[in-house]
Amino acid sequence: MNEVLICKDLKKKFGSRQAVDGISFSVDKGQCYGLLGPNGAGKTTTISMACGLMERDSGEVIVDGKPLLHTSTNEKMAIGYVPQDLALYPELSVSDNIRFFGRLYGINSKELTKRIDSVLELVGLSDRKGDRVNTFSGGMKRRANIAVGLVHSPLLLVLDEPTVGVDPQSRNAILEAVQNLISGGLAVLYTTHYMEEAERLCNQIGIVDSGKLIAEGSKHSLVKTIETGKRINIKFDEFKASYLQIFNQIPFIQHVEQKANEIEIVLTDENIQIADIFQFVKEIAPFIIAAEIVEPDLESVFLSLTGKELRD
Ligand SMILES: Nc1ncnc2c1ncn2[C@@H]1O[C@H](COP(=O)(O)OP(=O)(O)O)[C@@H](O)[C@H]1O
Ligand SMILES: [Mg+2]
Repeated sequence: MNEVLICKDLKKKFGSRQAVDGISFSVDKGQCYGLLGPNGAGKTTTISMACGLMERDSGEVIVDGKPLLHTSTNEKMAIGYVPQDLALYPELSVSDNIRFFGRLYGINSKELTKRIDSVLELVGLSDRKGDRVNTFSGGMKRRANIAVGLVHSPLLLVLDEPTVGVDPQSRNAILEAVQNLISGGLAVLYTTHYMEEAERLCNQIGIVDSGKLIAEGSKHSLVKTIETGKRINIKFDEFKASYLQIFNQIPFIQHVEQKANEIEIVLTDENIQIADIFQFVKEIAPFIIAAEIVEPDLESVFLSLTGKELRD
């Protein structure tokens, strides 16, 4: 039994809107699974059902081998859920916040004192232990929230878009904290609409759109499904219309597209190198200021599957 969480055909309707329309996925031990999709895709609704916080219309949730039911306290306890909105008492210190939630989980005082130190260490807030949460920056509050989600030593940590609305530096601190948790072997279910975060943290990614899981795999395998050919971007100091003709005459070029002073070409063969192209464009080579291989990313996967951009 390698799965910490299995979700089978989850469905949820709000009025006439089918927010989640048959989503299935599983999270293995030691894995970071990312649900990647635009706002409104159904990520929060999906994980709320997975954590037993929202009733599902249909489908099945299995936590550490056992079905998650209304009454399953142990299965719910196996999950540490960190909501997108902060669930902290601003007037209390971060350690008192963690203590409060730890008591709700029934952890005794002696054990709790140890746990508080260890979770604060994990999220990099040890030096702010006694400080009130309302003196924290947005990013520190998010990390405090994660610490609360970890206090009962869950098997799976569920993070709902933990970096939305924080500045880039705080965002990096959050991502580093999550990365450390993953490296430590904790299973994580991570939702985001930022493809860079899914790429950086998750070894398995489920792409969600309109309540459906439309693709799943590692970044590498997802990108492979859409790859049409090697792409190369060539930048000129000034692009002249006549250059286009030169590129169009190269035999192993599938597609040429010009954008301002740049030209993007798609090659028919993976083995062709940038140097091979230069053989054909010698006369204009002095006007080339840069040439690089364009790596396709998850944004291109999403675009190719849905015809839409991931970002709003
Ligand atoms: N409590 C609710 N009542 C009515 N509609 C909701 C509720 N929660 C979410 N929705 C709708 O369900 C869809 C999915 O929402 P959500 O799961 O929050 O998406 P995401 O987390 O991917 O942004 C959206 O259209 C949203 O407006
Ligand atoms: Mg959401």
